[in-house]
Amino acid sequence: MTKLRDVQACVFDAYGTLFDFASAARGCRAEIGDDFDKLTVLWRDKQLQYTWLRAAQERHADFWQVTGDALDFALDTLGLQRAGLRDRLMELYLALDAFPEVPRVLGQLKAAGLRLAILSNGTPAMLEAVVRNAGLGSVFDAVLSVEEVGVYKPSRKVYQLAVDRLGIPEANMCFLSSNAWDAYAASAFGMQVVWCNRYGQRPERLPGKPDDEIKSLDDLPALLETA
Ligand code: LAC
Repeated sequence: MTKLRDVQACVFDAYGTLFDFASAARGCRAEIGDDFDKLTVLWRDKQLQYTWLRAAQERHADFWQVTGDALDFALDTLGLQRAGLRDRLMELYLALDAFPEVPRVLGQLKAAGLRLAILSNGTPAMLEAVVRNAGLGSVFDAVLSVEEVGVYKPSRKVYQLAVDRLGIPEANMCFLSSNAWDAYAASAFGMQVVWCNRYGQRPERLPGKPDDEIKSLDDLPALLETA
């Protein structure tokens, strides 16, 4: 276990780290049947691929469109063409469940005097909705969307946005993501990074190296000496 050093702010990825993207398809389980978990995986994988592909092509479209495009691909692939299903799933994406420990841990970090922020691919409207729905509206000092820089993670411009908007050097930030590729990129950028490896992924072979790895955010306060 590595103690992190001189951390002034914790910056969180949103989807998969604070909010459970699987809760959308789970919410339509009665309609979707046993394929609901296949839908979650395919939808998420395609959503991320589209962000990377659009960034490489320099043809940005916002995360609401990309999420809808990825859902269309996934529903088509699984032969799930039911009236109204797409709209219901997209609505649920605005009201994803927070992982159970999230409100408790964020409260603890805030009480310890840390500044808290989200740094996400999500649009401002998507992030505002999901944060408000989870009752976390008053917790964050900043909710930062890649829409401000017009390119997706893992562009360096995205991590720089957190530095610029919080006015804190990257070395004094702790970035949290469950997405290994996001965690590695933030580390390569110069942030201190804790990889919240909720999904039991193997290490990436990419630039960067997270300072620590945890299974849920419950293990974070101890690393920050706020426990
Ligand atoms: C985000 C995605 C990558 O919130 O989870 O930026």
